[in-house]
Amino acid sequence: MSATILVTGGSGYIGSHTIIELFNNGFDVVSIDNQSNSSVDAYDHIEQITGKRVVSYSADVCDIAQLRGLFSKHRIEGIIHFAAFKAVGESVEDPLKYYHNNIASLVSVLQLSEEFNVNKLIFSSSCSVYGNVTSLPVDENTALPKAESPYAYTKQIGEVMIENFCKVHPALQAVSLRYFNPVGAHKSGLNGESPINKPNNLVPVITATAIGKIPQLTIYGGEYPTRDGTCVRDYIHVSDVADAHVLALKYLIDGKNSVNYDVFNLGTGNGVSVLEAIHAFEKVSGQKLNYRIGPPREGDVVAVYSDSSKAGKLLGWTCKFDIDEMMRTAWLWERNVAERKK
Ligand code: UD1
Repeated sequence: MSATILVTGGSGYIGSHTIIELFNNGFDVVSIDNQSNSSVDAYDHIEQITGKRVVSYSADVCDIAQLRGLFSKHRIEGIIHFAAFKAVGESVEDPLKYYHNNIASLVSVLQLSEEFNVNKLIFSSSCSVYGNVTSLPVDENTALPKAESPYAYTKQIGEVMIENFCKVHPALQAVSLRYFNPVGAHKSGLNGESPINKPNNLVPVITATAIGKIPQLTIYGGEYPTRDGTCVRDYIHVSDVADAHVLALKYLIDGKNSVNYDVFNLGTGNGVSVLEAIHAFEKVSGQKLNYRIGPPREGDVVAVYSDSSKAGKLLGWTCKFDIDEMMRTAWLWERNVAERKK
């Protein structure tokens, strides 16, 4: 019998792409999502791509009674916990929203993992835990500084919560995956990022500008100490991120882990500037993008990119998509969304 994996935040951007890869690898999936920044349409997209329908619940993971009901109905063997808020700027403006949602949901997940003896857990962490790094590329041994935003702090706290919990519950095997900047869409163009709220991450803003939803893209800062003055990030294709979840789960299921809690970076290792990202988009789409250089955005780090060799070595993970593919799939998805709305 195939194992049933609970995916929290399963109709979200990374959650839905991960369900596709879980299905492709023979897992059964139950999803819980309150659609606070996503749509149930994602389940249709998953079905179009894999031919499989997700068993799904529309509920808040913080609501432990509802979550308990789900655990009672299904024999869950592993949990991938995505459900969280993720906008850095919003977290600065409304910190309690982030502390409540991102922490309470993890408390529910950990408590129920204990109650129902579910002992495999993958946690969605973020490179934002590294803050303003002083030495690049950044690896998992880098000491974590004071967080730059409440969002980043919730990810630091989440990691510590799991580590503390694993110490007293040695049966629990857990991994935190620190994503750099996940972008792009499924290679079919049938599933991608559809935030309910206005896009504010770079690639959705690029494609929204190209399609005319946003009149002009503003580059946040053009005088940083980088090769072209714009910020540098490690963009990684969402399906590569999704793959890593399946590999991390198998790593735990196969008992290949030597410690019961570990962290892994997920990035390509390539630093790409905002201007380089825009030019990659222009090249693959054949579109000229309307952009201007504006003032820096508060809370932005100058440059960050990953040393992901640990995930390569222990999980057997490699990236399949480069920046051109990230842009090509993001653009394909944006056009498909526009086509469907006609
Ligand atoms: C941040 C976090 C990341 C988190 C993500 C969630 C860091 C280093 N990374 O990513 O862990 O998962 O938020 O939202 O904190 N940009 C523009 N114009 C725009 C939009 C963005 O110039 O309209 C620039 C930004 O200044 C930045 C780059 O594009 O240099 C990427 O920005 P964005 O996509 O928002 O992601 P991060 O802030 O890097």
